[in-house]
Amino acid sequence: MLIRTAKEDVEKILFTPEQIQARVAELGKELDAQFGDKHPLMLCVLRGAAFFFTDLCRAMECHMDMDFISASSYFKGTKSSGTVRLLKDTVFDVEGRHIILVEDIIDSGLTLMYLEKLFQTRNPASITTVAFLDKDTGKPDRNSVDYYGFKIPDEFVIGYGLDFADYYRNLPYIGVIRPECYE
Ligand code: IMP
Ligand code: MG
Repeated sequence: MLIRTAKEDVEKILFTPEQIQARVAELGKELDAQFGDKHPLMLCVLRGAAFFFTDLCRAMECHMDMDFISASSYFKGTKSSGTVRLLKDTVFDVEGRHIILVEDIIDSGLTLMYLEKLFQTRNPASITTVAFLDKDTGKPDRNSVDYYGFKIPDEFVIGYGLDFADYYRNLPYIGVIRPECYE
């Protein structure tokens, strides 16, 4: 029996499913305009970007390859610990390819920086980074993304693929959970 649902832990909703889909549609058009004739390799950074990735790919009309990679950024509670490791690589040979790295959220920017450096060593034609959310951490020297869906304040968010301790990924919107849920 379902005792308590995920949405009961949500304090406020930042982006509704409708707002998300409208923004993803815009991003899809922008990427089509840049990559329409380039047959990009779309790389989804699991697991947080899963819903964003599948929506974004469907919002694009160009030919593409799709694959899934996974990196761990050793999260302790709600803060990144700074160590990144590649857990699952792409099966594609990326040499000469236009890579589009699709992330859920940029926080410290370390995961992104690590992945960009890693793929750069394999001689791609280009690397473009896309994140659904860009968190304003107030650090000016942080690695920046080429495309983002929304900028958000320095708050811990969940839903639309994003988790807290692997919970809440299945919420269809982006929200903030009630502080007591962290305990
Ligand atoms: P970064 O390496 O610090 O940029 O962190 C990137 C990763 O941390 C993301 O791919 C997320 O998995 C996770 N993360 C950072 N901020 C949040 C958040 O507010 N909610 C959920 N996950 C987050
Ligand atoms: Mg995560």
